[in-house]
Amino acid sequence: MQHTEVISPARTVRGSVLLPGDKSISHRYAMLAGLAHGTSRISNFSTGADPHSSLACMAQLGATVDKDGGTIAVTGASGRFHQPADALDCGNSGSTMRMLAGLVAPHNGDFTFVGDASLTKRPMERIRGPLTAMGARIDLTEGHAPMTVHGGPLTAIAFDAPIASAQVKTAILFAGLQASGTTELKEAVRTRDHSEHALRAFGADLDGDRDGIRIVGGQQLKAVDLTVPGDLSSAAFFLCAAALFPDSQIVFDGLGMNPSRAALLDVMVALGLKIQVLNLEEAHGELTGTVQANGSSTLKGMTISGALTAALIDELPVLAAIAPFTRDGITIRDASELRVKESDRIALVVQNLRSMGAEVTEQADGMSIPGGQALHGGVIDSGDDHRIAMAFSIAALRATGDTMIQGAEAAAISFPEFFTLLRHISQS
Ligand code: S3P
Repeated sequence: MQHTEVISPARTVRGSVLLPGDKSISHRYAMLAGLAHGTSRISNFSTGADPHSSLACMAQLGATVDKDGGTIAVTGASGRFHQPADALDCGNSGSTMRMLAGLVAPHNGDFTFVGDASLTKRPMERIRGPLTAMGARIDLTEGHAPMTVHGGPLTAIAFDAPIASAQVKTAILFAGLQASGTTELKEAVRTRDHSEHALRAFGADLDGDRDGIRIVGGQQLKAVDLTVPGDLSSAAFFLCAAALFPDSQIVFDGLGMNPSRAALLDVMVALGLKIQVLNLEEAHGELTGTVQANGSSTLKGMTISGALTAALIDELPVLAAIAPFTRDGITIRDASELRVKESDRIALVVQNLRSMGAEVTEQADGMSIPGGQALHGGVIDSGDDHRIAMAFSIAALRATGDTMIQGAEAAAISFPEFFTLLRHISQS
């Protein structure tokens, strides 16, 4: 059932926000705990539907999953998955489908993966290529799910990543962990390194330097207790909200600050947000900190392209949504990957900006949004995409008049608490 949220303009945003656990890290901890020997306890596990799809798949593969509030106990399958009776349902989650394909490929059996309407359209050829080179057989349906991985013993490969994708990298590392020989992986553009840290946390040996990553096959994982840092990509919505008001103040505790994700903080500072970081800590390779953000009188603008685009890929919709309120505008290039996310995020951002009265130029690989524009309230189509629903709720804070966010329930994919927290920080 589609649900509409009405967002009214705000005078400012202020408050302290406790974020759910990071979606990317939760997926990895769920999967590796599900393969490991013993019981792992994962605190502050994401409340989003996507990582819970990963947990459900791990249970189908033979792990035991006990949920107790925000802490999840996962007893792993001790290195041996069994062929599930039913297809593995990944819901809306591309991360689940791609990364899990690599995790199950070295196991004997036929593993069928299905997803919702959006996931069924997303490209899976990118994992079929390398996993086939390792010896798996993978059936796709015109390049998409439904997908069947015919698993069995795999052999290591040397892989030069043709696209910047942490999901593809992870699929290969997870397969390489269980293959014979040493798998080598090179990335032209470095992507988020949560898998590398998570593999080490579960006891795997992994080598990484400027020349790439090497993982020796045949390694067993051991259970471990972990805490998931707060989700920086969820914080992005409130950081962008804070950037819209000169007297704003938002504080996040325990926020994930992994350098391979933290480009957003540099970009927010470059735009004009004042950011202070306190209490930096590290656990299992992941940095966390307390972050305080204060608005300023000028919100500049910028061009986002190349490696920066890859580093900000999940935050681009909300940066685009606040772009009309910047002084100089925001241009986004090299972002054609946005067209194959949960929705075509270039097309939907452009459509929704226009429905709020903004001028915007669409390009094949991005968009240009001039600054100094005023927006009016509009009707937003989330396209069942969580990040679109949340991005335009932030733009709506500075519009004149109310904005209807249609398909607002999509936010629950990564951030079920979003609208409650938005109301908590919005001052009218
Ligand atoms: C993710 C990687 C990115 C990102 C997604 C999560 C991950 O996808 O957009 O939300 O957890 O590895 P790609 O690997 O397709 O770039």
